[in-house]
Amino acid sequence: MDLSTPLSVIQLGYDSSIVGTNWELWTSNNSYINSDGITRLTSLTYRATDVTYTEQLNVTVVASDPTLTTSTIPVPYATPTGFSNDISTWLAPKAGSEAALAKSKLFTNIEVPDAAKGTVIAAQSYSHPDYAYHWVRDASLTMDVVQSIYAAAPGNMKLKYANLLFGYAAARAQEQTQSSLETGLGEPKFNLDNSIFTASWGRPQNDGPATAAIALMEFANAYIAAGGSVSEIRTRVYDSATHPDQAPVLKDLLFVARYWSAPSFDLWEEESADHFYTRIVQHRALVMGAALARLLGDSEIAEILSKEASAMARTLTQFWDPVRQILLYEYGPVVHGKYSYIDVAVILGVIHGYAGDGLYSFTDDQLLSSAVRISMGFNQVFGISSIHADNEGRALGPPIGRYPEDTYDGLTTSALGNPWYLATISMAEFMYRAALGFKKAGSITITATSEPFWSYFAPQVPTHSQIDNAKSVPFWWFIATPEQNDSVRLHLITYDSDSIEFSILIAALEGWGDAFLRTVKYYTPEDGRLAEEFNRDTGAPQGAADLTWSYASLLTAAFARAEAMGDAGYVEQLAALID
Ligand code: NOJ
Ligand code: NOJ
Repeated sequence: MDLSTPLSVIQLGYDSSIVGTNWELWTSNNSYINSDGITRLTSLTYRATDVTYTEQLNVTVVASDPTLTTSTIPVPYATPTGFSNDISTWLAPKAGSEAALAKSKLFTNIEVPDAAKGTVIAAQSYSHPDYAYHWVRDASLTMDVVQSIYAAAPGNMKLKYANLLFGYAAARAQEQTQSSLETGLGEPKFNLDNSIFTASWGRPQNDGPATAAIALMEFANAYIAAGGSVSEIRTRVYDSATHPDQAPVLKDLLFVARYWSAPSFDLWEEESADHFYTRIVQHRALVMGAALARLLGDSEIAEILSKEASAMARTLTQFWDPVRQILLYEYGPVVHGKYSYIDVAVILGVIHGYAGDGLYSFTDDQLLSSAVRISMGFNQVFGISSIHADNEGRALGPPIGRYPEDTYDGLTTSALGNPWYLATISMAEFMYRAALGFKKAGSITITATSEPFWSYFAPQVPTHSQIDNAKSVPFWWFIATPEQNDSVRLHLITYDSDSIEFSILIAALEGWGDAFLRTVKYYTPEDGRLAEEFNRDTGAPQGAADLTWSYASLLTAAFARAEAMGDAGYVEQLAALID
């Protein structure tokens, strides 16, 4: 595998003169250089106001060893274990709970008065900040919650949810057919009448077509499973070729299949590059799309989609950075000063984009390594990171933002970023889904890659094999080279599901999941309302009030928690609550 720096231009800036010579030192601090470095300098361009000078260099560069080391993981301040009652009560599927409020607030933001049918407002905040738009991403993540509720709802309540979902499908189809789309189906945002938002913006954002298709395909599967008509799914959800005014899915899937390798803006709408988040949700869309097309008898389309999904899968592994031991959130030059390489987008990526095929599952050791480093990534940044317990002394998980260097405070980008509710919640959901994944797998294998995760989150359990300890696989040693990092993982120890250590590790995941949610609870005001962010120093809500996506993320985490607890009736009970 060739990891060489995928960058064609590096900007240099004057640093200092070199005493006693007429040389100057010019350096670069804004480039993304991969661990095997730069292999060739082709030319040098000097650009001043009145002159441009270019010299052909063509020098071969021998990459020196990267001096970077991985971030150090601190000693854990707590060892929460198992699910806690405070969080169970907070999320109870009963009137008056936070989960009930989240559900009702989420539905309030679908089809607000005067908005077009099928649209979702990002937040009913009409100025400072103006979030009164239908964002393709936020809408799809919201409707994905609606489809989960649809799937679990008692029969007599399904119709109302199905109507919202068919309305959403039609709205998406209408967006696709507008002739003045500037950047094709990656157009990120629409006015509330579902006309295109035309002012300048970070576009295209090619995660949108994928997550829109995912939500609608989940719905299609649930609809068919509940005995709904397959031909209705074809005409009102899937078949854009024959029903372009109603059915958006096929068109979005073909767009993804055709353009996935093109750079686009990330989910934070800030940088055009190759993003892990975008790529993994696109991968899931195509995997699901191939299965749906096959179900509907469209074998030719199924073929195209699965071929592209496989091609995409091969590129996903390139996001692993063996030096930093994290999945990079993007492939390309460092922009926005994101030198930490930490971005919660990686966690959101697997939550929204895991295709169920083993590629970057919640138990993947590269993801676990990324998760612990993301968890620690904001400790030096937020004042409230030093608060480790609630008023009853129960552990609080670290508050999580988008990325440590963020300068968006919910209103302007010349400020300091804050923890986000949805980012902190995503760490909780990750923990629950990892617990579920390991239980399903029936064992936990700790590797050299996942060792830092386990030694932070479950220090009670040895991460290396010891005499007479649980069954361990043979230990061997090698020096990892980038070429090997994909295929060879250094196994340290395996705990089978009947061992006591396995139970302790699972309980640690559950306990930390709850600790992350406890942080969200701790910084949620009395009235239970979730804004976009909470202040880095005071913990007070900040940014758009009642952000639809905050509520959606709380609900998907609550669903994952209920599943991890074996509470099969949770979503149904929540669905049956009258708002
Ligand atoms: C608004 C976007 O939604 C936000 O993510 C971004 O940070 C700012 N614009 C600046 O681009
Ligand atoms: C800013 C976020 O960065 C972006 O992800 C989101 O889509 C918009 N706000 C709307 O909520």
